[in-house]
Amino acid sequence: MATMESLIGLVNRIQKACTVLGDYGGGDNSFSSLWEALPSVAVVGGQSSGKSSVLESIVGRDFLPRGSGIVTRRPLVLQLHKTEDGSQEYAEFLHLPKRRFSDFAVVRKEIQDETDRITGKSKQISPVPIHLSIYSPNVVNLTLIDLPGLTKVAVEGQPESIVQDIETMPNCIILAISPANQDIATSDAIKLAREVDPSGERTFGVLTKLDLMDKGTNALDVLEGRSYRLQHPWVGIVNRSQADINKNVDMIVARRKEREYFATSPDYGHLSNKMGSEYLAKLLSKHLESAIRARIPSITSLINKTIDELESEMEHLGRPIAVDAGAQLYTILELCRAFDKVFKEHLDGGRPGGDR
Ligand code: GDP
Ligand code: NA
Ligand code: MG
Repeated sequence: MATMESLIGLVNRIQKACTVLGDYGGGDNSFSSLWEALPSVAVVGGQSSGKSSVLESIVGRDFLPRGSGIVTRRPLVLQLHKTEDGSQEYAEFLHLPKRRFSDFAVVRKEIQDETDRITGKSKQISPVPIHLSIYSPNVVNLTLIDLPGLTKVAVEGQPESIVQDIETMPNCIILAISPANQDIATSDAIKLAREVDPSGERTFGVLTKLDLMDKGTNALDVLEGRSYRLQHPWVGIVNRSQADINKNVDMIVARRKEREYFATSPDYGHLSNKMGSEYLAKLLSKHLESAIRARIPSITSLINKTIDELESEMEHLGRPIAVDAGAQLYTILELCRAFDKVFKEHLDGGRPGGDR
């Protein structure tokens, strides 16, 4: 039981398999419904609200492409795997399975190049995700999806994609990022949350740029839930400023400064143990795990449906034809059977929250 794979790790593996079969089968099979049924965390917010900064802070690494204009043009599925203290950090892309990246500047370059490979240099937006796994002692087990920015998408005349993506993923947890130096009523993230999750059950409100508010003002109305009420508490964040980024302030140092900011703040001192990016990461990891646990029965039934479909497709293909496709199907079928087994173990023997 002690070696049981974490539920988040397990779901990560299914998500990767879904992407592989999605490519193979054109995306229209029960594997795509499985993908939609798997809980994950989607990051949303207007341009410059601090989405990339929050993601980097959760990872403890600088690795996302930067710049003005639309930087995120393909969804980035970011899977974080906590490893033993002192172990070497590295990253891996699903499209480059044999390569381990230990230089995160190269990771940034690869995200850019891989984005361009699908979208061309035309700056188009594509729904085809890039999968990136990061193995590090400085992360919690968590899966986050960085979606192309909201505002820009509407401007580009493709308003359908994100709202629809989130609507068709009823289990996706929304990480709604708003900047504190802007009226919360005009926040793109909150506008979207209001539309797709009116009861606020699956939205985590994040308020960035607390350090940039006018002197003499504070964000207590938002952080204490009076401005916009959500079922989960709001989390305030202080990311690196542009000047910090230009000076290459280390992410781990930035996390420490953020902790100090809250601990010594006259306005937020009383909330300091529930603020900051490290607290946010732990909160999300815990919530994601319990969301997955609650959905085990429906996930296993979808997996079984997929197994049935794959089996009949294999039969239909016969042995000699399409060796590659058949081999791939076979691998995925085996994977599904393994998932089914591990999920059942979790159901039978899983202590609440105790699979590490
Ligand atoms: P995105 O467009 O939503 O991904 O936003 P970014 O994370 O790229 O942030 C946009 C700009 O705001 C960058 O220059 C960041 O340094 C800055 N920024 C983000 N969060 C904060 C914050 O909490 N405090 C300060 N001072 N600057 C921030
Ligand atoms: Na905004
Ligand atoms: Mg960004």
